Amino acid sequence: MANDWQRKARQRWKLLASVINKQALGRENINVSVRRFSGFNLFSKTFLESEGDYEWTDYRLFGSHVNKPMLVKQRSRQVILEDLTGFDNTGNVCLWPSEEVLTYYLVKNKNQLNGKTVCELGAGMTGLAGIFLASFAEPFHVVLTDGNYDCVENMRAIIHRNQPSFGSTLVTCQSLIWDENANLSNLEFKFDFIISADCLFFTQCQSGLVHVMDALLNESGLAIVMAPCRKNTLELFCSKARSRFSVTMLRNYDPLVWSRHQLAKREDPLYEEDIHYPVLLLLSKKTGIKS
Ligand SMILES: C[S@@+](CC[C@H](N)C(=O)[O-])C[C@H]1O[C@@H](n2cnc3c(N)ncnc32)[C@H](O)[C@@H]1O
Repeated sequence: MANDWQRKARQRWKLLASVINKQALGRENINVSVRRFSGFNLFSKTFLESEGDYEWTDYRLFGSHVNKPMLVKQRSRQVILEDLTGFDNTGNVCLWPSEEVLTYYLVKNKNQLNGKTVCELGAGMTGLAGIFLASFAEPFHVVLTDGNYDCVENMRAIIHRNQPSFGSTLVTCQSLIWDENANLSNLEFKFDFIISADCLFFTQCQSGLVHVMDALLNESGLAIVMAPCRKNTLELFCSKARSRFSVTMLRNYDPLVWSRHQLAKREDPLYEEDIHYPVLLLLSKKTGIKS
């Protein structure tokens, strides 16, 4: 039976589908992506091959001393109306700049994650941050999660294809919906790190997200979250998270990302700081509060 969150998500997508339907009578494909900005230029991306409506791309981090490819499967066609009727589809639409910046940031700071357990929430189609981490560092276990079934199945294919790169790191994926009643039974061991990119703008899920983070993170764990401001949604999330966590918000957390951000602001007419520039949040548990 659909839970309350799934019901709300369905309603939201139905509404969007009906609006688009009215606007697009007679057109078969509609691009619902708002990712017009091409990103912070942190990766080289080389098309490899098509697989039905999907394509495989070779992703490499520029400037990394290890020139290792990650093979990433993404949707190649535009989203069509029938895609908009299920669970939230923002993760199916594209890979968001925050996920790329989070990936870059984690690889750069990878040493603190060696030997640790890591859970990515709202990992979208690719779980890019989690799979790069598993490949470039040596975490003990990386669990990629999303509430969208298609995303989870896509990540399963990506994990399978990149398995040789992960060495002794265990990489798994599963469905996980942020909900106060979420079933977390198979994730009962607590994580050292939670990572997440661009997942804060669903204001009706923020309390569920705070709950899931609190339930999954161990007492000394850290959540590393990247998200653009998206109006006041980032601030709203922080105000809810402060009931459980000490929250540090950083805008200028990396010189390269900051300089690309300044450049985009000056030169890219498609760049909108509010929806494209990822702010970094670090959340650690307040002591003395029981989950
Ligand atoms: C904007 S996308 C970001 C995806 C990916 N992190 C990226 O940046 O490319 C938000 C993701 O959160 C997932 N999501 C939204 N609401 C959720 C919920 N209540 N529980 C679990 N996942 C959810 C969506 O399926 C989607 O993949």
